[in-house]
Amino acid sequence: MSNPFEQRFRHALTHKTQQDLLRTRYVAEDDYAGVLKVNGTAYLNFASNDYLGLRFDERVLQPFVEGLSKYGSGSGASPLVTGHSIEHARLEAWLAEKLGREAVLLFSSGFAANHALCQALLQKNDVVVSDKLMHASFIEGAMVSEARLKRFAHNDVAHAQTLLEAIDKDSATLIASEGVFSMDGDTAPVPELVSLAQEHHAMLMLDDAHALGVLGDNGLGSVDAFGLTQADCPIVMGTFGKAVGTSGAFIAGSQDLIDYLVNHAKHYIYSTAMSAANARATLASLALIVAGEQRQRLQSNITRFRKGVARHDLPVLASQTAIQPYIVGSAEGVLQASDYLRALGVWVGAIRSPTVPKGSDRLRITLSAVHQDKDIDALIDALCLMREQGWG
Ligand SMILES: Cc1ncc(COP(=O)(O)O)c(C=O)c1O
Repeated sequence: MSNPFEQRFRHALTHKTQQDLLRTRYVAEDDYAGVLKVNGTAYLNFASNDYLGLRFDERVLQPFVEGLSKYGSGSGASPLVTGHSIEHARLEAWLAEKLGREAVLLFSSGFAANHALCQALLQKNDVVVSDKLMHASFIEGAMVSEARLKRFAHNDVAHAQTLLEAIDKDSATLIASEGVFSMDGDTAPVPELVSLAQEHHAMLMLDDAHALGVLGDNGLGSVDAFGLTQADCPIVMGTFGKAVGTSGAFIAGSQDLIDYLVNHAKHYIYSTAMSAANARATLASLALIVAGEQRQRLQSNITRFRKGVARHDLPVLASQTAIQPYIVGSAEGVLQASDYLRALGVWVGAIRSPTVPKGSDRLRITLSAVHQDKDIDALIDALCLMREQGWG
């Protein structure tokens, strides 16, 4: 008789396959300047979160190499042992100053940062009021905590208000939203959320993973775009694995919040710090973001793509950011649509439930500063052909 765990694996995998929901991986043999090579074939890459193309910028790579030779390939320890270097401290100080926050704490990933925040902060009788489309790293964290989780319809401030009115006045309440939504590419009604939090004595938290590098005059995300003070939005989380082009994440807020996390966030305390080389490269990349050259290029690609969408009446959700979702509506349909695009040399993400709500399965098209005009035009042509064939 097989082991019960083995039976579980087989059963779960068969079930996922039957529903067209099985996840598999591709081996990227090369991935440079907007071109992805898989199984010997090159594709235009419209699936990466490297929105500004900074992953390969020499002005990011050079500090990375210097960091490697100075501090070695890994940090060697948790930040509370010897893993917190001068490069980490500089990056934290830079972010705190630019975002107008008292302090910043680095994490190895955005998943760890969101999960840690929930794990460390939330207690019994607390309430989390979160946008329904909040990322899995936050929702999972809130669900394993003892707090009550209430989710409002996406970007629906009136619904959030109704949920908040039903909460006991003594409960500590956290309102959570993303600055730019990872799967829809739209922005949150940030000023309204700030007012709502103030009215209900709640704390507002923004996950700015997809806004950092994209929103604001300096590219520093929601804080920059909406002029948010620390009192307006006491907890800001951002990631480096998207537009910044390195990896890791941060939480910014009051000195007390950061000191509290240093003492309570298990993902921080019991995990090896990101490498100092990564921290050094991240700071260099952030300085390039503020300078703005790549942001202009991304913006002109977004404008060109949106003009093509309008000209051909393509059913792409209204989005002014790098994330442009084409809703297909079924898991089977979105797999067929992405296979068809691949046959035309275009690689886009096929996103199915539970990553997005059932029935809203989609092609998640992401634009980047590395794309050239002809790449955007080729994408539009491919989407038109796909629709003509009845795949999307
Ligand atoms: C909104 C959002 N938050 C958090 C994360 C997690 O970030 P990381 O990839 O650094 O773990 C992601 C990544 O997909 C995300 O889209």
